[in-house]
Amino acid sequence: MEAARTAVVDKPPSLDALVAMAASDMAAVDALIRRHMDSPVPVIPALADHLIAGAAKRLRPLLTVAAARLVGARDDACLKLAAAVEFIHTATLLHDDVVDSSQLRRGRVAAHLIWGAPSSVLVGDFLFARAFELMVGANSMPALEILARASRVIAEGEVLQLTRAHDLDLSQELYLEIIRAKTAELFAAAAEAGAVSAGAPPERCRALRRYGQDLGLAFQLVDDALDYSGDSATLGKNPGDDFREGKATLPLLLAMARTGASEREFWIRTIDRRDQADGDFERVRDLMRQTGALDATLDLAHTYAASAKAALADFGANPWRPALEDLADFAVLRRA
Ligand code: IPE
Ligand code: MG
Ligand code: MG
Repeated sequence: MEAARTAVVDKPPSLDALVAMAASDMAAVDALIRRHMDSPVPVIPALADHLIAGAAKRLRPLLTVAAARLVGARDDACLKLAAAVEFIHTATLLHDDVVDSSQLRRGRVAAHLIWGAPSSVLVGDFLFARAFELMVGANSMPALEILARASRVIAEGEVLQLTRAHDLDLSQELYLEIIRAKTAELFAAAAEAGAVSAGAPPERCRALRRYGQDLGLAFQLVDDALDYSGDSATLGKNPGDDFREGKATLPLLLAMARTGASEREFWIRTIDRRDQADGDFERVRDLMRQTGALDATLDLAHTYAASAKAALADFGANPWRPALEDLADFAVLRRA
């Protein structure tokens, strides 16, 4: 596992094949996103554009398009769903940055610091509503059901995480449940909805849902590692937010478990009592390095990425399959 990770770091994984295959679809999705961002209420397009025109990877709508084409979609029903998926994601980011008091997103100052938290939350609601208009326009009740459920599950995950912050005794099981809800559910739903809208048989839809879910878990595990190991110029957001907010993510849970009694006071002060001083974040990073907490988090991400790839086994020689396998590698080896 260690050797595999180090070997590929020299040669970053590439999404070129997937991006090229999906290029015309994604251009159409982008046009839909642009069109549906509009509103006669001035602050709405301005605030939405600030986030949407930032350094977005558009992974989730790409997943919807790729899943639909993988199962043989010939029409464009998936495009509106893909745009809706990106709107759902963007809405959750606007809300999340308020909740997390984050200052940087997609390489830009967070919207709530420019327009204020109330406008940011309300434009998040606008984008959610737009997503539902697009989904209704896609004319697939099963896809609407999948994405409506995902929207609800994401909110549950975010609330669960919020209410379990500063909790030194959070179990790894509950942590995984939180990231499954707040992140993996949208990846799962994005892929499943694409397949469903194309009329794929249930076992194919289930396989793509499993691929999306495991990909999403890998993605969030890496996100949680990067919050300690990344830098803001590459990440486009500030590392350290999770520690500051007392989020018991896997790197922190592992570091706490592996440092034992000697650091107990440190964890109680910084996480439980919320009393943090200059140098504490650097100390946590050192403890994570010493205990291998980040490596162990990335190893688990590798395991989920491998499981995501395995979910595609029955798709045979379909050209979308290797492209989606690349996406699983990218999720783990990315730096941003
Ligand atoms: C974001 O989770 C999940 C959702 C927006 C639903 P995080 O708070 O961990 O992600 P970042 O670091 O802000 O992107
Ligand atoms: Mg956040
Ligand atoms: Mg958050």
